[in-house]
Amino acid sequence: MIDTQKIREYFPAIQAGRVVTNNAASTQAPVQLLDLLEKLVVQYDNVHRGQSRSSLLTTTEFESSYDTIAQFVGAASRNNIILYRNATEAINSVMYSLMTEFKDGDNVVTTFMEHNSNYVPWYGLCEEILPKFGIRVECRIAKFDKETGALDLNHLNSLVDRRTKIVCCAGASNFLGTINPIKKIKEIADSSGYLHPNGDKRSYLLIDGAQLVPNAYVNVSELGVDFFAWSFHKMLAPFGVGALYAREDLLLKMRPFLYGGDMIAEGMVSRGKVDYNSLPWKFTAGTPNILGTILSAQSLRLLMDFSLNPGTQNYFMADKELATPDIKKAMDNIEFHEKTLIGEALNILGDMPSLNIFGPKNPESRTSLVAFTHKDNSPFKIAEELSKLGVESRAGCHCATLAHHYYELNPPASCRLSFYVYNDIEDVRKACFAINP
Ligand SMILES: Cc1ncc(COP(=O)(O)O)c(C=O)c1O
Repeated sequence: MIDTQKIREYFPAIQAGRVVTNNAASTQAPVQLLDLLEKLVVQYDNVHRGQSRSSLLTTTEFESSYDTIAQFVGAASRNNIILYRNATEAINSVMYSLMTEFKDGDNVVTTFMEHNSNYVPWYGLCEEILPKFGIRVECRIAKFDKETGALDLNHLNSLVDRRTKIVCCAGASNFLGTINPIKKIKEIADSSGYLHPNGDKRSYLLIDGAQLVPNAYVNVSELGVDFFAWSFHKMLAPFGVGALYAREDLLLKMRPFLYGGDMIAEGMVSRGKVDYNSLPWKFTAGTPNILGTILSAQSLRLLMDFSLNPGTQNYFMADKELATPDIKKAMDNIEFHEKTLIGEALNILGDMPSLNIFGPKNPESRTSLVAFTHKDNSPFKIAEELSKLGVESRAGCHCATLAHHYYELNPPASCRLSFYVYNDIEDVRKACFAINP
């Protein structure tokens, strides 16, 4: 169990009386991070670009943020972690880095439940970029069960073959809430027999973890994925930083996504030859979001403290490695809390016959969001009415446009409520009972 009432004290947005139930889009920032930002503003300088005490201090804090982030998701080291502006950019970076490796006749397999961030880049590659070079690559899309919201693994399996270079799949859907079985998807990708230039014989697996990392324990090494993307603005940090985990041997060989300053080895640029920096800086061209990176790493430490014992400062701002059992316990606590909340939401909304609720019926199979449509009222109207009652929801397709068309929704929209660590059961009841059945 987590102590939600204590956690709520640290969030100015909650203290201001807001019923924040649009957390799948972005979460709110706690006072500890706002205070840290103030502190950093007085002392910072650019990283890797100065000899002043400020620059060296900021560089140390910036670099160690990569260690925290790596530890949090169970990556071997900071060399596996590349930071970008958001999950979308992280996924695009994989597409652009692998782009020149695609061969005529290859394919990419994705699913109908993807956020546009994990479909449109592959669509762009297959339909717009590679055809310009005379290379035909097919983008295949796996179905899901409309009733249960479960990914159709048989269909996915039938789409993956020896020409599937990469399988791209959501760890959890931001519309259905479905948590996908990553290990089973990996087995399918592993068995394809696709031959990569480095001799790997299987399809790569990219998981979009944007809705998974904030809500559940994730260990990328145990999962054995090749690429894993997520964002920190969905887990208490301010906007502006997303992460890519990737296998180190792949990053070492992959082309950089962005070219420029700091991603080159010191002094190793001449007219005919450029050598790249060591990992992870090979993928960090230009001045990065330094403060955002430090705040993002500290948001993970704080999330652990909130979950394990709010009010204590065991991990936040501590020069201390994250212990895997603590990460697991912290995230299991959060997951348990969220299952309680979503269970209550499903119970209340399930009793409203005019609603059509999407995704798994069982809270165990989903994250803490619920999307629905009403037989008479548009999702936008519902969201506006909720807003008048002080409840923050989201209406639209949530960038899960393929899935909304898959259900033939017209307009392609639903209304969504999503909960996080600072929501209590009262928030859930207030939000759900505010929906006029
Ligand atoms: C499943 C999923 N993937 C990707 C994204 C994109 O995240 P970002 O906006 O940080 O790029 C989101 C954000 O809503 C998401 O829910």
